[in-house]
Amino acid sequence: MDYVTIALAKGRLADITVELFEKIGISFTDYFSNSRKLIFANEEEGMRLVLVKARDVPIYVEQGAADIGIVGKDTLLDTKANVYEMMDLKFGKCRFAVAALEEYTGNIDRKTRVATKYVNVAKNFFQKKGEPIEIIKLSGSVELAPIMGLSDVIVDIVETGTTLKENGLVILENICEVSARLIANKASFKTKADQVEKIIKALECTVQERKYSP
Ligand code: PRP
Repeated sequence: MDYVTIALAKGRLADITVELFEKIGISFTDYFSNSRKLIFANEEEGMRLVLVKARDVPIYVEQGAADIGIVGKDTLLDTKANVYEMMDLKFGKCRFAVAALEEYTGNIDRKTRVATKYVNVAKNFFQKKGEPIEIIKLSGSVELAPIMGLSDVIVDIVETGTTLKENGLVILENICEVSARLIANKASFKTKADQVEKIIKALECTVQERKYSP
């Protein structure tokens, strides 16, 4: 069967998305949070869900291994994948910010050391400001970097602000708001136009009517 394959980021975003699909009549009955299974099918609708790391969602979609994907704008901004960004799903809301230890007062004698998972976002932001920086690329627990003297500041996403607070960091500057986006493979958008559009329309109605409140 020629499935429409949907790539989702494992975790909270996937849980919300599966719920959202259920609301538009597409169920993946064997899906449950924290399952180790990575692929789920709805044979009746001809749809498959695949669970991947957030950063790999745009890669699956760009390469055509998945037809559509749902991923945070933060990941899209940083990975710059060649995909269609179809829709703001209005959930998974958070923001990019520059943060530092409360006592940080800046430095003038050298480049600011910026620890981040989002290298491109951080580079673009500081480049626009004309501020020279040195990037320290990390994979997670970025808030630890200033505490350990590994960096001066961090660029990271902030949702509730709890991680910053619990580690004694404060926001210096907000960069931009982000939320979950629906993306589509450029070829699938044509070859599977009917199925892809059907999903987009159903999601659009749900998001617009605010039937769904995350
Ligand atoms: C993200 C982000 C922050 C935290 C922000 O990390 O990188 O650390 O969530 O959320 P909060 O403002 O609600 O505290 P994630 O949970 O993805 O883990 P990681 O540090 O391993 O990347």
